[in-house]
Amino acid sequence: MFVTVTIVLVYAFEWNSTGLISVYTPHDPEKVNLADLGVEEVLIKLGEKPPIHYIPVLNQDSARMGEEMVRYGKLLDGSNKRISKYFYCTDCHNQVKESADPGDESPEAVLEYGKANKIPFLPAATFYGLYNKQHWYNGDYEKKYGDLVRPTRDTLFNAIQLCATQCSQGREMEAWEIRCVMHYYKSLEYKIGDLVFTNYEINLLGKSIVNNPALAREIIHSRYNEINEATFGTSEIPEIAGYEPNYENAEYIYQYGCLHCHAKEKEITNFDLGMDKLSFKFLEAKLYKYNSFSLSHITRYGTYAVSGRKQYMPQYTMENMSNEQLLDLIGYIKYKAGE
Ligand code: HEC
Ligand code: HEC
Repeated sequence: MFVTVTIVLVYAFEWNSTGLISVYTPHDPEKVNLADLGVEEVLIKLGEKPPIHYIPVLNQDSARMGEEMVRYGKLLDGSNKRISKYFYCTDCHNQVKESADPGDESPEAVLEYGKANKIPFLPAATFYGLYNKQHWYNGDYEKKYGDLVRPTRDTLFNAIQLCATQCSQGREMEAWEIRCVMHYYKSLEYKIGDLVFTNYEINLLGKSIVNNPALAREIIHSRYNEINEATFGTSEIPEIAGYEPNYENAEYIYQYGCLHCHAKEKEITNFDLGMDKLSFKFLEAKLYKYNSFSLSHITRYGTYAVSGRKQYMPQYTMENMSNEQLLDLIGYIKYKAGE
């Protein structure tokens, strides 16, 4: 059984009874696999209004330049100045998917996927799929940045500028530079194939693409998060009765999180940490101190940039690190200090 329907006069979606969906375009009579199409493109074909940051055609050259600025702080041909003297975007943001299912970006899911794939465990959101979010600097970031977040809530362009100047303590980016980063984000947008559907959903999606685009949009939206939520924790050491810390998880957090910035060779901070006993002893001695060296304090509040000392540590929100994971880390540090 085949059903073919033309949507917005440009695309024809075909769904067959095996659940496979193919898409035809007039320019390209070859079938395209739905899985390879960008989520946003499909949503727009299904009648959704394009977002403010909509980029109809990816420019590969711009995306490459955007990637260079993200990874190296400037273009490799030396034609612009470093955005931040202190940081690269990659110090705080990953460029890859952080969980197996974009619909579940809980700290547990991120840890499991990150540990298996050796992905840094970072306090800021991954750039993968950031293009598909609808609002930025959500939740408690308003507490941290106040009125500065307002213009970023609906506009990815402004969110990039805020991060360049505030989070990464750099200069203002020029409009063309931000556009290049946006093209880079577009190159990292979710494809339909990134989303994890049940068989039931795939079937329903196939049918509704043909005869109920509103439902099809709803099914697609339900499989990923529209925003990165942010809830700040407190410096109290969490109390979870009977909780046994998981050292293996903690070791991953320490090596792929803390050491991502604090390893000596990183030259991001003046505060070096490593796998040596001294590091663990130091952290252990401060565990119960109410100052910025105590693990629960530093993890939940980070540090603030001060004039003259611009490197600061971003905090891990409850969405980035769970209380269980914080207890894992505390348990691990005590264990390594006493080993
Ligand atoms: C020192 C750490 C740090 C650096 C460096 C950094 N960021 Fe960020 N960035 C953050 C934090 C923390 C947030 C807020 C949490 C989050 O990611 O949602 C954020 C948020 C963002 C957001 C909004 C994400 C969202 O979903 O709300 C964008 C866009 C962004 N950064 C772009 C950049 C770009 C581009 C660079 C490099 C020029 C950069 N950042 C460098 C820490 C950093
Ligand atoms: C994104 C980079 C980054 C990550 C990830 C990170 N830190 Fe930091 N951390 C910093 C920076 C930058 C500073 C400021 C140090 C400086 O002034 O040189 C800092 C400061 C600190 C300090 C010293 C606080 C003070 O008052 O000087 C401690 C302790 C610390 N971090 C522990 C940790 C631990 C534990 C982790 C893992 C849970 C961690 N950091 C993860 C960047 C990071």
